[in-house]
Formats: sequence, C-alpha cells, structure tokens
Amino acid sequence: MDKDLLSMADLSGPEVRGLIQSAVELKRQGNSDMLAGRSVALVFELPSLRTRASFDVGIRQMGGHCIYLSPQEIGLGARESVPDVARVLSRYVDGIVARTRRHRTVADLARYALVPVINGLSDGEHPCQVLADLLTIYEHKGRLEGLTIAYLGDGNNMAASLSLGAMLVGANFVMATPEAYLLPPETLAKVENLRGESGAAFDVKVGPAEAVSGADVIYTDVWTSMGQEAESERRRRDFTGYQVTAELLSHADDGAIFMHPLPAHRGEEVSDDAMEHPQSVVFDQAENRLHAQKAVLAQLLGRS
Ligand code: CP
Ligand code: NVA
Repeated sequence: MDKDLLSMADLSGPEVRGLIQSAVELKRQGNSDMLAGRSVALVFELPSLRTRASFDVGIRQMGGHCIYLSPQEIGLGARESVPDVARVLSRYVDGIVARTRRHRTVADLARYALVPVINGLSDGEHPCQVLADLLTIYEHKGRLEGLTIAYLGDGNNMAASLSLGAMLVGANFVMATPEAYLLPPETLAKVENLRGESGAAFDVKVGPAEAVSGADVIYTDVWTSMGQEAESERRRRDFTGYQVTAELLSHADDGAIFMHPLPAHRGEEVSDDAMEHPQSVVFDQAENRLHAQKAVLAQLLGRS
C-alpha cells in the first residue's frame, strides 16, 4: 500500500480484499498491541460521531494513543498553513486521520506529512466508510465479486468512493440520480479505468425502481452533505422521488440488503420504515467502521 489512504483509487483490488480479510481477523481477535507506543492525531474540520469514536476506540484497542484536534484548536489553513501543520504533527505522531472540507486539504496534509495520512472524509471521498461497507457486504453475502450495488441519490463523496470500491472488487455499480448530480468527470474517468481492469459494470438508470430491481445491495446517502446546507431546499426538490422506502425495497430481491453510511436524514433520502426494515444493515456498517479502520491502521502504522 502507499504511505497514505486518501482515495479508494489509492488501493488495488488485491489490497482491498487483503484489508477486508484482515478486518475479519481483527474483528475476531479484539484487542492487540499492534500500535503499542504509537500516537495518532485526529484532525477534524467537520463534525463526526462514527469516524471520531471508531478511530479513537480502535487505536486504543490496538494499544495506541490518539489526540483529537478540533478546528478551533489548530485553525487548519487559517491560524497556520496546512503544510506547516503537517510537518509539525509529523514530529509528534506516527499517523494522522483527517476530516477536511476540501479534498485538497487532506491531499496537502499527506503531501507534506512524513507520516501516513488517512482520509476520514473530504468533499471528494470517504474511503474508510467504503472499506467498512465492503466488509459488511462480504459478511452478509459471503462474496463481493459479481454482486450488484444500486446507489440512489447524490453523486457525492460516498458515491465516488463506493463506485471506485465496487470496481476494485469486481462488483457492478448502478446509480439512479438526477442528471445534474452524477459523479464528477474525474471520478467517472477513474471508474472507467478500473472497470476495464475488473470487468464490473457501471450503469446509470433514470428511475429508482429500475435501479433496485435485481440489485443485491441498495445504498443511499444524504442529499445535502456537510458544507452544502445552503443548498438543502433545492436539493430536497431535485431529489423528490429518490427516497428509499420499504415500498421501494419491495422491488428488490428478498435477500437484498439496505445500506446507509449515517447520519441519516430520516424523511429525506430514507424513510423510517426503510431504516428499520429487516433488510437494513446500517448499524452493522457503523460497527464495521471500527474493524475496517483497524485493518488500515495495522497496515499503515502497525508494528510488523
Ligand atoms: N459515516 C460517518 O462518517 O459518520 P460520521 O460523520 O458521524 O463520522
Ligand atoms: N455525504 C455525507 C457523508 C457523511 C458520512 C457528507 O459528506 O456529509
């Protein structure tokens, strides 16, 4: 693996499969001393429940130590430049987990840091979530290759990482979204590249019901991501009809699972009856953040 994990595209198919296998083993194993004596900085420009809690707990379960640095404390790019923060932190800690408004910021941290940088969400990608999602799918379905993931909604950070992750493991990716919300061209180009290698299909459907028919996984995410709050009214209008409901899930196979990275905006992209549906695995996904990230930490920072 490279020094950093910024994008799913930083990984190869075998590396993703290796991380999932390692996460399965670490989940079984529980605590270890793989990070004994190691320190990790958690640098967050945006709020978080899952990412912050699961990294903190995961690092401690591996015998390491972490410090949380809020935006008020370090003023990333305001009080001090991003390259300077990266170089200073590299003198104290063995790794940095960063959640940044702009993907450029986490990329700059990685460029200037001498230690591994893990993207804990940027406006471009959320690779840690997707590794947890692939682990969750693997646990429920027993395989990844050849499955079909239907993603409904915004072509955002989640859609970018999930589509890349799907291509890497040979899963088909079907997306239903209004035309203006498709993935950015640079992500589509990366998807196309990986698709050629894995032979997985990437398809865009007009209607949600058409997308979920025949899918093994139905996935949605918020219509308004962090930082886009000013657009929420327009987005609610534009995504009318894309809500995942129990009725929509009835168009999918009985064995299909419903996924959401959380936090959910119930009543917008997802109804209560879909969140609470027997086919919903959203809390397994949340738990698997812990195990998948421990696999990443072991790989990038662990003592061999
Ligand atoms: N899914 C996820 O990243 O959740 P948080 O924003 O709470 O970390
Ligand atoms: N797309 C969402 C994901 C949150 C985990 C956001 O960026 O806010």
